[in-house]
Amino acid sequence: MDRKISFIGVGPGDPDLLTIKALKKIESADVIIWTDSLIPEKIINYSQEGAERIKTGSLTLEKITSIMIEKFNSGKTVIRLQDGDPCLFGALREQIEILKQNKIGTEVIPGVSAFQIAAAYQEAELTIPDITQTIILTRAGGRTGMPEKESLKDLAKHNSSLCLYLSARHIKSSQETLLEFYPPETKVIVGYRVSWDDGWTSLIELKDMEKFTLEKKLIRTTIYIISPAISNSSHRSNLYNPLYKHLFRTK
Ligand SMILES: C[S@@+](CC[C@H](N)C(=O)[O-])C[C@H]1O[C@@H](n2cnc3c(N)ncnc32)[C@H](O)[C@@H]1O
Repeated sequence: MDRKISFIGVGPGDPDLLTIKALKKIESADVIIWTDSLIPEKIINYSQEGAERIKTGSLTLEKITSIMIEKFNSGKTVIRLQDGDPCLFGALREQIEILKQNKIGTEVIPGVSAFQIAAAYQEAELTIPDITQTIILTRAGGRTGMPEKESLKDLAKHNSSLCLYLSARHIKSSQETLLEFYPPETKVIVGYRVSWDDGWTSLIELKDMEKFTLEKKLIRTTIYIISPAISNSSHRSNLYNPLYKHLFRTK
């Protein structure tokens, strides 16, 4: 069997949202390297007795990857847990590159991302025919900055469902920019540590996004979904419309 290091998306927090594949890997790993700032201990508790659990909160990329390499080369089964889905804001590529340079194989197992759980908690559909069929996953600039062509202004012009990760600290400027393109009453799902024991979501309006953020003292682990698709008006899709025939419903 080919040995490799698995990068595992463990979802937004609730262990019930782990995939079966992720759970099996956690249960059988010798070494678990995990983002302690964004993954609850409950998930790590599925690991076997004696498994080594290494927190990455205070470590650098070099340190994290050198630990992975050392443990892997000593014959251990090593897994790297990432919150949500690893393909989003998870510094995935740089870790994989270093492992590949060291001739270590890798695999990625997807997980439920923060925007999905926040939408699910509000029972929201983010793509409604004739309103928007597009979801943008992005962040406000901040220290990491944004590619120029992806400024919030440019993205907001589409008036699509827009999910803001990592943005609570920049909510004042984000709200100002978004109000140039979305009506003030546009619905916004705000989710804090959604699916953790103390997590919640709330449905507010765009014009109140900054005020709400300050009142709730939101700084970390917060997602915003700004969406014209969330409203009380009734729209129906073609999918289940009796007048609309398709491959699986020909009559
Ligand atoms: C470093 S990014 C990683 C995103 C992750 N890979 C994902 O797919 O959700 C961390 C950001 O994701 C969002 N996030 C992650 N988990 C969350 C949760 N349970 N509730 C609300 N936001 C969450 C927040 O915006 C947080 O600042």
